[in-house]
Amino acid sequence: MADSKQPSLNLSGINAAIIMDGNGRWAKKNSLNVTSGHERGVDVVRKIVESAAKAHLESLSLYAFSTENWSRPKKEILGIKKLIINAIDSQVPELISQKVRLNFFGDYSSFGDEVIGAIDDAHRATAFQDPKLKLNIALGYGGRSDIIEATKLIANDIKLEKLSVEDVSNETIFKYLNAPINELDLLIRTGGDRRISNFLLYHLAYTEIQFSKTLWPDFTEEEFIKCLEVFSKTERRFGKRTL
Ligand code: IPE
Ligand code: IPE
Ligand code: MG
Repeated sequence: MADSKQPSLNLSGINAAIIMDGNGRWAKKNSLNVTSGHERGVDVVRKIVESAAKAHLESLSLYAFSTENWSRPKKEILGIKKLIINAIDSQVPELISQKVRLNFFGDYSSFGDEVIGAIDDAHRATAFQDPKLKLNIALGYGGRSDIIEATKLIANDIKLEKLSVEDVSNETIFKYLNAPINELDLLIRTGGDRRISNFLLYHLAYTEIQFSKTLWPDFTEEEFIKCLEVFSKTERRFGKRTL
């Protein structure tokens, strides 16, 4: 019998991303503190990563912490820091067994040496040449600062004559951006808001965007698979006349 959690979907080559929003509201709704909401959020990540690998996605990029999130209360940030360390500790063996390559991107240096060390170790432990899935976690990431830093690097390489102005192309910009993907095919945002909140700005040019009202801790594999199915049935025209 077909298992509904074992989709026949084959989304190889597809790069998907999720803005995992709604942890705070979920915590409030359940009379819990915000850190418990983030904790539940991490549990959901584990299940969604498994589904993403089963659906043969090329990559899954998850928005975990934005540049703007640094303005949150110290206590919440400390809770997130502890969660990152614990999550890496408990999840990496599972990621290794699933052949998932983990890649954190963004400026997460303000989380401190313990987080930086844990991330370095996780990168080394999952550095598969031919991974089943590339799992990218945006931590301290902002689309605008990514573009600003890339622009500075390009300007500097032009100054050093490593690059000529004429050679600056779409590919060049992707290469200089810190986010480890090029074209983003599908973006899902949970939590009911319909905005981008400074995520992968340059990569979003032709992305299919889906908004879900579900708060991230309540997001299920079934809903994720439904999103993937809707995506796989969408006609993508890229500006062309197809009729
Ligand atoms: C998303 O959940 C996680 C982070 C931004 C770290 P939120 O914490 O933003 O949850 P809401 O939007 O307040 O419900
Ligand atoms: C977006 O959620 C960032 C992450 C999910 C990490 P936010 O909760 O920070 O976004 P806004 O404030 O609602 O735009
Ligand atoms: Mg939010």
